[in-house]
Amino acid sequence: MGVEIRVEGLTKSFGRQTIWQDVSLTVPAGEISVLLGPSGTGKSVFLKSLVGLLKPDRGHIWIGDRDLPRLPESKLYETRKLFGVLFQDGALFGSMNLYDNVAFPLREHTKKSESQVRQIVMEKLELVGLVGAERKLPGEISGGMKKRAGLARALVLDPEILLVDEPDSGLDPVRTALLNQTMVDLNAEIGATFLIVTHDINTARTVPDNIGLLFLRELVMFGPREMLLSSEEPVVRQFLNARTVGPIGMSEEKDVSELEAEAALGRDPGRLPPIPPQLMTSDGRIRPGQHAPGAWCAAHGVTPPAGSFVDDLGRDWVEEWPRYVASMAPGAAAAADGGFAGDPRPGPSAPGAGR
Ligand SMILES: Nc1ncnc2c1ncn2[C@@H]1O[C@H](COP(=O)(O)OP(=O)(O)O)[C@@H](O)[C@H]1O
Ligand SMILES: [Mg+2]
Repeated sequence: MGVEIRVEGLTKSFGRQTIWQDVSLTVPAGEISVLLGPSGTGKSVFLKSLVGLLKPDRGHIWIGDRDLPRLPESKLYETRKLFGVLFQDGALFGSMNLYDNVAFPLREHTKKSESQVRQIVMEKLELVGLVGAERKLPGEISGGMKKRAGLARALVLDPEILLVDEPDSGLDPVRTALLNQTMVDLNAEIGATFLIVTHDINTARTVPDNIGLLFLRELVMFGPREMLLSSEEPVVRQFLNARTVGPIGMSEEKDVSELEAEAALGRDPGRLPPIPPQLMTSDGRIRPGQHAPGAWCAAHGVTPPAGSFVDDLGRDWVEEWPRYVASMAPGAAAAADGGFAGDPRPGPSAPGAGR
């Protein structure tokens, strides 16, 4: 389930302003990927390019053997059905209650009967935790509920790819954590390819299987979370560790004299903090796209920062993982003692995970 998106040499400008250039990355099928970057680096423009709402100047977006920017309008329409999108503003119709908002794509794009529509809408509302709120108008609910409603609407046509633009913008830390948990659970449930755009570092550090970083009109890096979270590349290190020292300044790029002054003072972005355990599904299930903690580091001879993969109960998840996987295997439930049975918190839990 879920399909891969392969982007090659993608460039987008508006007039003389180049937003980003030569972006190449493969978003793996069924996994959760996060695209991180300072405000204004063109993250929303990237998502809109992926669904064909904006046309890139150069480059390819491959979904299977279809190159989106080169598809005729008729085929593009077909391919767009693979995508569910939650835009930054949620884009709910203010005059419609949540039920009708979520039902809208079904009534518009399918010939389903109202009883079928009802079944699908209620199922999606359940997935995002909104059952009971279906008669409310968007104006009557909190920002977090609006995002959830937008998410339910993005799911009604059973997308293979889910694009989410800044799910955490405007939400308090608790609602952000709850929404992050919902997205991890959703990924386990529907198995679609997720691409989440955010500038929230905590979301980027704890939620995804893969992280990409857009900075100064370039995709600095894209890869497994452990690769980015152990990277010594200054921009990656500064951004993922939320430091003020480094190449990123208030005006987005610091000038050479500022960087030289920092170097002269002996300031550097500091040591890497531990890689936190990844946010697990709330029922402890292992997502199909999830990687074993420490696997990338081990495979690439990288020593993760001290204290990595240790949760707030002091468990080291590189060590625990094989036992945990065995305990989650079908039929293992009765035999699983391994310290997991009766544990109210299934799987790794980190301080601040998902916040
Ligand atoms: N339709 C458009 N026409 C012209 N410029 C645009 C358009 N959409 C976005 N931009 C510009 O592209 C840049 C990146 O915008 P955006 O993708 O919204 O950034 P982000 O989502 O990373 O905060 C901004 O400078 C913005 O003004
Ligand atoms: Mg944006």
